[in-house]
Amino acid sequence: MTFFEVTPEADDAVKVLDVKHWTDKLFSFSVERPTSFRFRSGEFVMLGLLDTLGKPLLRAYSVASPSWDERLSFYSIKVPDGPLTSRLQNIKVDDHIIMRKKPVGTLVLDALIPGKQIYMIATGTGIAPFASLIRDPELYDKYEQVNLIHTCRNKAELAYGKELVDRTKRDPLIGELALENLVYLSTTTRENSDVMGRPTDLIQNGKLFSLLSTTPFSPEKDRVMICGSLGMNTDMKLICEEFGLVEGANSQPGHYVVEKAFVG
Ligand code: A2P
Repeated sequence: MTFFEVTPEADDAVKVLDVKHWTDKLFSFSVERPTSFRFRSGEFVMLGLLDTLGKPLLRAYSVASPSWDERLSFYSIKVPDGPLTSRLQNIKVDDHIIMRKKPVGTLVLDALIPGKQIYMIATGTGIAPFASLIRDPELYDKYEQVNLIHTCRNKAELAYGKELVDRTKRDPLIGELALENLVYLSTTTRENSDVMGRPTDLIQNGKLFSLLSTTPFSPEKDRVMICGSLGMNTDMKLICEEFGLVEGANSQPGHYVVEKAFVG
């Protein structure tokens, strides 16, 4: 099958600046940021390639870089038979891909009413929007403590998040705030590690709160952002509701927000 190449002249073409393969299933990449492109931390855009007929084949990708950065970064799964990711995983520096310049999404600070602590709960590539949010100074203006929880099947899949948090704490702009107020907890479910278990189980048995030295979710002080697989999102929504939290949206801010991580 011959796929159309994205040329620099194609509509919404952006140049690839770096690509990093983390495991045989995960990779990240950055593209040049179009000069007029603005987004809110936590939002996603549609990006992809051209198919065999020359039509755009696009999927939703959360921007994983901070809104002040010159490049736009993304974090992706590689699905062996996935129409897009089976090809996107082969992109190289200086290639072009397509990115629509219309950012959208509900994982934004504007969709939450003010609170004291925020919990960002991610599984797999669901950490991508939080990679942007934890480098947004506004986050630290709004919350006294930021808790980032990332769960993957094994330790190799946690590498992206670990490096992200290390880099954030060393960042000249945001490092000091992150060192003081960002708490990171990573867990695995299918390989032994320091903390094991699904985030849902760790919340329900209370272990998450004792590990973070916090108290169970309360609508008065806690806000939650959720991004992962459909199953995790559904289970986490129920848990949030059990604690009395109400879902928020751009039009009506609430106590928690949820979005599906890209999976195809
Ligand atoms: P588990 O290994 O117990 O299925 P995946 O690689 O399938 O996207 O999963 C990423 C992580 O999300 C895994 O650690 C997986 O745990 C966890 N997970 C999957 N479904 C749920 C769920 N419904 N609630 C909480 N965590 C989940």
